[in-house]
Amino acid sequence: MDPTSQIIVALDFDNRRAAEEIVDRLGEECRFYKVGLELLTAAGPDLVEHLVAKGKDVFLDLKLFEIPNSVAGAVRAAGALGASMVTVHSMGGTGIMAAAVAAARDFPRLRVLALTVVTSMTSTDLAEIGVNASPQEQVLRLAQLAQGAGCHGVIASPQEAASLRGVLGPNALVVTPGITLPGESPTEHARPGTPRAAIAAGASHVVVGRTITGAADPVAALRLVRANLEP
Ligand code: C5P
Repeated sequence: MDPTSQIIVALDFDNRRAAEEIVDRLGEECRFYKVGLELLTAAGPDLVEHLVAKGKDVFLDLKLFEIPNSVAGAVRAAGALGASMVTVHSMGGTGIMAAAVAAARDFPRLRVLALTVVTSMTSTDLAEIGVNASPQEQVLRLAQLAQGAGCHGVIASPQEAASLRGVLGPNALVVTPGITLPGESPTEHARPGTPRAAIAAGASHVVVGRTITGAADPVAALRLVRANLEP
């Protein structure tokens, strides 16, 4: 896969103007964007259709955790907007993941990704919610559940990418946020990794937000990420 299509830039903004400004600045250098709950709520679904109309792939990070019927409806709505990826919480169990996968069948380009354990969580955080496993163990357990439910891939930290690739096989998508460039100090990421480390470990895509969108020169920052991915 060429590095450009492996980089997903997270548009974590509270208004459409700021998001469009970055998309315009990055131009042809970026083909894949993540739209999360903040921007979707602030700017509305039109923005997703606008990005798709510009030829961009959109990862709609809905983080669905609802009853199966409602999850299926939200996945259909994401598919109708032209999204390429949508997320569902694997902690919600097989029922909601299977509902999401079934709903996505009407939209051939739409991939359902399962969230395992957010990259900011530690063993202590898991223990607090009654999960007596390490993040690594919990990620693997949930990833296998997701695969069994038919999900096309998982979201996980760079540090779990290798074991996930081993467990899920060569075709699964393994999408890793929690990406920092070498020398950059991690913000709230508890289990960060560089783009190169993530891809070398078996990630199919990396999600990069503020490293690019918060840079004085976003194009230069994107090029640094891409250069870091090249062998
Ligand atoms: O930190 P950064 O700005 O690169 O975050 C980009 C995306 O990565 C966010 O939209 C968020 O969904 C995801 N992220 C995460 N865990 C974190 C921090 C960010 O999954 N600890």
